[in-house]
Amino acid sequence: MTERVKSGVFGLNEQLDGGFIRYSTSVVIGASGAGKTTFATQFLRRGLEMGEDGIFITLDEAPDQIVREAAMMGWEDITKYLDNGQLVFIDASGKQFTDFIQKELSDFVEEWEGHNARIVVDPLTPVLWSVDSKYEQRELVSFLLREVRRIGTVLCTLEEHGSQGDLSGPDIVIPMYLADCVVHLRYTSKESPERRELKIVKSRASKHSRFSHPYRIMKGAGIMVLPVEHKVKKVRRSTDMELLYKRIEAQYQKMISGVPKKKRAKLPREVFTNIRRTLNYLSEDNFGDLDPAEATALILGEYDLNIEGSD
Ligand SMILES: Nc1ncnc2c1ncn2[C@@H]1O[C@H](COP(=O)(O)OP(=O)(O)OP(=O)(O)O)[C@@H](O)[C@H]1O
Ligand SMILES: [Mg+2]
Repeated sequence: MTERVKSGVFGLNEQLDGGFIRYSTSVVIGASGAGKTTFATQFLRRGLEMGEDGIFITLDEAPDQIVREAAMMGWEDITKYLDNGQLVFIDASGKQFTDFIQKELSDFVEEWEGHNARIVVDPLTPVLWSVDSKYEQRELVSFLLREVRRIGTVLCTLEEHGSQGDLSGPDIVIPMYLADCVVHLRYTSKESPERRELKIVKSRASKHSRFSHPYRIMKGAGIMVLPVEHKVKKVRRSTDMELLYKRIEAQYQKMISGVPKKKRAKLPREVFTNIRRTLNYLSEDNFGDLDPAEATALILGEYDLNIEGSD
């Protein structure tokens, strides 16, 4: 059976037939501000909490800026993984990284051989722009993906520049063809940029969702993918946050008590701390148009747990 890794993006795994296939390659395409870096960080962090290694190859933003943004998202624990060496950053321009791919990648992969890592390239776009012909672009990306997947599960982000939904440029088409899984983050209308949808364009060897799923970005949780049938509800501004927190806390306690001992051992203690942290953030933050129970269920679902505590 194909082994899957949890994406770390709440609500996405069930649309992906269980998650990303381990040692597969995925691309996440989106316009500026769609949530690509957030997606990538969530994906890495999910591996880190399970004890995996994380390699963040950043082509655009400095590592300390990514760490700052992660902290603003409520993920300040990311520094802990930098300190213990589980997470490493590679900071390069498109041209520098292309040189690295051509000259040093094979040695790098050899060094990491046998590791069970998650690797992010955010964004891959400047790498494609650093060579002249489509042929070279294809060779370069193909070599990169083939090599890097030897040491873990790969996720590359791609910038979408053209008009919304146009995925026909070579800097998008080439990686799309080569990757095993393609996720598109898109704005549904220019008029209301807060309305965003996620679509799985393809996912090899998976019975994946064919629909466009609305998604939200929330402090503490990051990207949350909602079921297609999600209805925008009238938000009750009068929600008593204290009461809400108690309710979530009760759900959390119930969940802990509902996890069979055997399964509890398989989930590192850290996972529970993180679930707790995420729920805490949500209780303080605005749930937007999400029902608190709905949001909680999405978070617990990432860990194959449910609110009822049954299994
Ligand atoms: N603390 C936060 N709480 C809620 N939403 C946030 C928070 N921080 C960022 N966002 C949302 O996340 C979006 C930015 O996400 P991200 O940086 O992942 O996008 P991106 O696709 O990587 O953009 P770019 O192409 O510019 O790098 C913002 O547009 C905003 O809507
Ligand atoms: Mg980004």
